[in-house]
Amino acid sequence: MDMRAFGKGFEDLYMRSKEEGVKYVRGIPGEVVENPELKNLILTVENTTTGKLEEHELDMLVLAQGVIPRRDGDQIKKLLTLSTTSDGFIMESHPKLKPVDAPTKGVYIAGCVESPKDVKDSVTQAGAAAARASILLNAGQTKIEAITSHVVAEKCNFCGICAQVCPYNAIIAPDRKAKKPPVLIQAACAGCGACAAECAQDAIIMRHFRDEQITAQIDAILEVEPHKHLLTFACNWCSYAGGDNAGTARLQYPTTCRLIRTMCSGRVDDKFVIHAFRMGAPMVLVSGCHFSDCHYIDAVHWTQKRMDRLWTKLEKLEVRPDRLRLEWISAAEGQKFAKVMRELEKALATVTTDEIEHTMKVLAEEETKREEKIAKRTVGVGA
Ligand code: FES
Repeated sequence: MDMRAFGKGFEDLYMRSKEEGVKYVRGIPGEVVENPELKNLILTVENTTTGKLEEHELDMLVLAQGVIPRRDGDQIKKLLTLSTTSDGFIMESHPKLKPVDAPTKGVYIAGCVESPKDVKDSVTQAGAAAARASILLNAGQTKIEAITSHVVAEKCNFCGICAQVCPYNAIIAPDRKAKKPPVLIQAACAGCGACAAECAQDAIIMRHFRDEQITAQIDAILEVEPHKHLLTFACNWCSYAGGDNAGTARLQYPTTCRLIRTMCSGRVDDKFVIHAFRMGAPMVLVSGCHFSDCHYIDAVHWTQKRMDRLWTKLEKLEVRPDRLRLEWISAAEGQKFAKVMRELEKALATVTTDEIEHTMKVLAEEETKREEKIAKRTVGVGA
């Protein structure tokens, strides 16, 4: 359909082959039949340059098809806890900074497993992957992620949700009967924080993104004139970078937005959102990577589930659910980031002071009830 000769030396090859007698036809191939006498092939093609139907007699016909990932790729994906792009190829950790690293530590990717590519690119990538692997092997020791989760055993009620949400299978599920809390394999934890956000008992602490640290940021943002601020939770890899992209491209967006960075949108706990509304936030935005781009495999699916739960909860608590928004913004979507911010500023103008005060009152009462319940339970346990 189109002649494209990208890459070093490809244009030369195209020109040289033409000089040697290769005939290129821009067209749509139709039928291929065997010539019964000569036993060669007759190809019917619509020449889209001339608009005519042509017949070509050929000795050999090579069909260049689209490349799709291997059908049995799911097995290896599960085994190594890898993520894939929407078209099923293995996703790299970062397209520019870690192009041959898989999100799972110690796994490197090269060749068509990552995307369709030619031999030269595959060899180049394989060389880079081997070099990256040798760094790890030669070090003789491995550095683990500083941002990892940590289980507070005494708070655990053995529900096991943490083990279910972990995209890296880094948590060994608790044993309710034996009263054994979950065990977190630090070396396997990548630090998305989904377990900490899902644990209703606060029995998981996310190092460097602890509840107290995030709550302190919310409080600081909403300390003065909270009704004027658009509180945004942005994931480190996509939405936050999308905001950066908007900035470097000098795109205009409202100055009312205040960003709180989390490593993954999966870290955004219900209680952060509720706390923000209780402190007077008119609007809250949770933003993360598009589903297939989450850097922590499928942690972003938990963001969606949690938000669905939260919208229902907010409605019950008489808080307009559309005051909580969810947007998927990639690192390259500076334009989208700016557009979302502009739209949200318009929505922010529809939230009245009375509405904010009512929300604050309702949520404060709800919090008091919750604290009383906990206190009663504690007394019960003590007695
Ligand atoms: Fe962006 Fe998970 S890393 S949503």
